Amino acid sequence: MDSKIKINSKLPNAVTTIFTEMNKVAQEYQALNLAQGFPDFEVSKKLISLVSSYMEKGFNQYAPMQGALRLRQVVSNSFKLMHHVDYDAVNEITITSGATQAIYTAIATVVRPGDEVIVVEPAFDIYHPAIEMYGAVSVPIKLKAPEYRIDWNEFAGLITEKTSMIIINTPHNPTSAVFLEEDMLQLQQLTNGTNITVVSDEVYEHIIFDGLQHQSVCRFPQLAARSFLIGSFGKTFHVTGWKVGFCIAPEKMMHEFRKIHQNVVFAGNHPMQLGIAEYMEEPENYIHVSEFYQQKRDYFINLMQGSRLKPITSHGTYFQMFSYSEISDMSDMEFVVWLAREHKVAAIPLSYFYSDKFDEKCIRICFAKNDKTLIEAAEKLCKI
Ligand SMILES: Cc1ncc(COP(=O)(O)O)c(C=O)c1O
Repeated sequence: MDSKIKINSKLPNAVTTIFTEMNKVAQEYQALNLAQGFPDFEVSKKLISLVSSYMEKGFNQYAPMQGALRLRQVVSNSFKLMHHVDYDAVNEITITSGATQAIYTAIATVVRPGDEVIVVEPAFDIYHPAIEMYGAVSVPIKLKAPEYRIDWNEFAGLITEKTSMIIINTPHNPTSAVFLEEDMLQLQQLTNGTNITVVSDEVYEHIIFDGLQHQSVCRFPQLAARSFLIGSFGKTFHVTGWKVGFCIAPEKMMHEFRKIHQNVVFAGNHPMQLGIAEYMEEPENYIHVSEFYQQKRDYFINLMQGSRLKPITSHGTYFQMFSYSEISDMSDMEFVVWLAREHKVAAIPLSYFYSDKFDEKCIRICFAKNDKTLIEAAEKLCKI
């Protein structure tokens, strides 16, 4: 239908996400899709039956605006168990429609026109558009390869009077790097005495390898006091399509967060919240997720021995990066299309996650797949 309406775009530079693009490419070339981050194995039958039981019991109307109290309580208990911290389920935790909505809402709560927001890059692609929507400017800082660590001197130089927020993500998508305790102490020290808020995207909190400790902001009291801590049940329980997440913040910050949350979505999905709550009341259901994915990572890396794609150690998340610099000097955008067309595997180019499209000749592959898919992928990739 033709329309004479002129919309002055709020996101004039936004493009279709790489995930949609690569899903299309994968379909066109009938390639194995290891691009978008979603598991292809079964969800716990117990969890599914709990969710259906709540639907059958009639919990099909709006959840409380803050989220089902039972789930907030379980989230609070899980942070006590994992990090020995106390969060008040009533005033400091809100259940959201996925981490995406939680992050958007946190940015909307704080960021104003003219503000600067420091974003660690490569960065998951939902941060920059939300910052732009609220008239602020993203100030990117690059992680340094090959370990993908922060240069804290450089970081300190980026903080100005206009900095209203810092966005971090650990374990990190797409590099699979994790922040160490010393990183968090640096961040705490740099923000002490300022009015800067932190969004700590911790959606992969339960997917961390080799005995490393997840350095949640909640473990650092002065950081916790300025942070919106974001989580996602989709990642932990292999249910990315359910879009249930949460935000934790000190009461004063959470009070403002909820003013926006109630107007954006009012409340998240009720029966899923109740099903997840009952499932999570048994910590056995989430404390072994790291082991599960570490085994997948090791299995896949083992299958990939002999490949000319060189792995960059994955310390967490369900992603593995590979350098292809020994194979080709194509740009990473060209390389992923070539890979899908010629070798029938779809991956994500790393440059997509940099605002200046910095090209390190690396691709990201999702290994949250069953063994059969991983064997097939490795067979194809080892032929390059
Ligand atoms: C780093 C990161 N943050 C946030 C999200 C969004 O999580 P959700 O699906 O719960 O909205 C994702 C999903 O891929 C992610 O990788």
